[in-house]
Amino acid sequence: MISNHVLARENLASETPLFGTFGASESLPCPATGKPENDSILAIRGLSLEYDTPERTIRATHEIDLDVYLADRFVLLGPSGCGKSTLLKAVAGFIRPVEGEILLDGKRIQGPGPDRIVVFQEFDQLPPWKTVRQNVCFPLLASRTATREEADERASYFLDKVGLTPFSDAYPHQLSGGMKQRVAIARALAMQPRVLLMDEPFAALDALTRRKMQEELLTLWEEDRFTLLFVTHSIEEALIIGNRIAILSPHPGRVRAELNSHQWSLGSGGEKFQAAAQRIERLLFEHKTDDSLPS
Ligand SMILES: Nc1ncnc2c1ncn2[C@@H]1O[C@H](COP(=O)(O)OP(=O)(O)OP(=O)(O)O)[C@@H](O)[C@H]1O
Ligand SMILES: [Mg+2]
Repeated sequence: MISNHVLARENLASETPLFGTFGASESLPCPATGKPENDSILAIRGLSLEYDTPERTIRATHEIDLDVYLADRFVLLGPSGCGKSTLLKAVAGFIRPVEGEILLDGKRIQGPGPDRIVVFQEFDQLPPWKTVRQNVCFPLLASRTATREEADERASYFLDKVGLTPFSDAYPHQLSGGMKQRVAIARALAMQPRVLLMDEPFAALDALTRRKMQEELLTLWEEDRFTLLFVTHSIEEALIIGNRIAILSPHPGRVRAELNSHQWSLGSGGEKFQAAAQRIERLLFEHKTDDSLPS
């Protein structure tokens, strides 16, 4: 079920030109919770992230502000080096900000937690000595999120959802790349995270499998309405997967624009879709200099 505030934003979105940034919407209290309707699950505030190397300090993101709402499919889109993975790792709690903060349900993120699970691009993210079922159960047991019986139940449920029940007892090396990614997705969803984080999860797959996986992810989302933060450098994938897109520019990573993309789906194509993709491409690659920013 879609919450009222999501509907409110969707309505707002349909009246907003595709390439407008989100205006500050009215913050009316929700009758059920008393909270403002536009309360975000994930609030990124003035976030700057850096890496210290022996030669110099590299600023990966600079003063990023973003809000992710319940059941959003929020996409971070940008060219290589714009800090997408770094931002995702900070949300996962693997990297601490040098400036700003990340709030999950109003609480500052201090480190990793079972409420944020990451699906990576690499096929080697599954321990090879565990079967498919054991891979899905492991984080549930290790984090004490579920008893063995509950973990088994959840594993069966989500393996069925990704079509891998017949491979429950197989080992990762016996699976194709797409199947390994399905296990990683089942493992992540079984944890029922507050936010599912995906870093180019389909980028290493062939075009046909990639398309199939995008379709499956959207079907899973239709069924469970989880909140998704999804990284890609593919404009087409961003339009298909996302209901909202933040476009990042590199060196250091900054938010160039935010836009609505809920009107596009897998079946989308044709002139309007191509025009939307081209306008995003222009936003991504138009050169915009600002000498005041650190590099
Ligand atoms: N471990 C690291 N040590 C030093 N610098 C790093 C490290 N990881 C990333 N960086 C730098 O931080 C910046 C952002 O990198 P990041 O990997 O977040 O970009 P990205 O948008 O995910 O790129 P890609 O699309 O290639 O995955 C880049 O300038 C990169 O060189
Ligand atoms: Mg990356």
